[in-house]
Amino acid sequence: MTGQPPAERLLLALESTCDETAAAVVSRDGRILSSVIATQDDLHAEFSGVVPEIAARAHLENFLPVLRAALERSGVQPSQLEAVAVATQPGLVGSLLVGLATAKALALAWDKPLVAIDHLHAHIYACTLERQSPVFPAVAMVVSGGHTHLFDCRGPIDWTTLGCTIDDAAGEAFDKVAAMLDLPFPGGPALARLAAGGDPAAYKFPRPLLADRQRFDFSFSGLKTAVRYQLQREPDADRADIAASFQAAVVDCLIGKCELALAVTGRDRLAVGGGVAANMAFREALEHLAVRLGIEVLIAPKVYCTDNAAMGAIAWEHLDAGDTASLACEVTGGLVR
Ligand code: KG4
Ligand code: ZN
Repeated sequence: MTGQPPAERLLLALESTCDETAAAVVSRDGRILSSVIATQDDLHAEFSGVVPEIAARAHLENFLPVLRAALERSGVQPSQLEAVAVATQPGLVGSLLVGLATAKALALAWDKPLVAIDHLHAHIYACTLERQSPVFPAVAMVVSGGHTHLFDCRGPIDWTTLGCTIDDAAGEAFDKVAAMLDLPFPGGPALARLAAGGDPAAYKFPRPLLADRQRFDFSFSGLKTAVRYQLQREPDADRADIAASFQAAVVDCLIGKCELALAVTGRDRLAVGGGVAANMAFREALEHLAVRLGIEVLIAPKVYCTDNAAMGAIAWEHLDAGDTASLACEVTGGLVR
């Protein structure tokens, strides 16, 4: 028999949980045909943080151009798509609603199934992008502007939450401390650049909850306050030393709880995603942990650490498990534990 090779399976994924509007076309075998992201950094910069109402309105303006660009760059027609996927939790409610309404309209107009995805799980699934080797089962950490979560993952959509932050997320702490140091928004990358020229041992900032071996939770608000007090006591402090010492404290907390989770679960793989996973000091500490414990550390490719829609490829796992969403499905904002 002759014939055409089977057509590549393709889906469209949308992301709008916070302040990035994104769309991607991804194939079942991990090919990213397009990944388009519109950031809103300049809209939120004057507030040194994301303003939910502004974010939702900007998603409304950005979605159609982002969607059009994602389809054009992929060269794919809607008729070739198998499904429309969208992140429905957790995140800012207004932002999530714009994404879900857009995805529902497309699914209805194109007569495709809708797939609802969890943004945190998608951040971890980013570790599978551009990688051939298996990622799951694994201990997984999402460390971003809104979340600091540890999971035990038996499979890509089979998870138990081990712990999470009880106050600020690690990325939020980076952003707040960066603002104290008069760095531009979003502060994480700027603080990391400043820290590269500082001494991480110059100040001994607290490592909250690190010594507590009974829980996998994190707390960064006391650390943030310690930096504030240090700057008040010593207004002429070397800012690079402050940045490096703060970053070292965050990295110690993150690594310590990963190590605890690996010990308790007995897993030999650690998957890490989310915006703060782009941080070089953290990535280096993870590499050292891998060598020290003889485990495999899988970090999402840098471009897929911060919010994007390509990580919505996790929708394939739901689709293949028959897990599609109804057009009546809703969003879940805030923190989902
Ligand atoms: O994953 P993401 O794009 O959005 C959320 O889901 O929250 O993460 C954004 C966060 C911001 O707090 C940003 O400052 C932080 O990730 N971030 C970094 C770095 N790059 C981004 N933090 C530290 N070092 C970096 N290189
Ligand atoms: Zn995120």
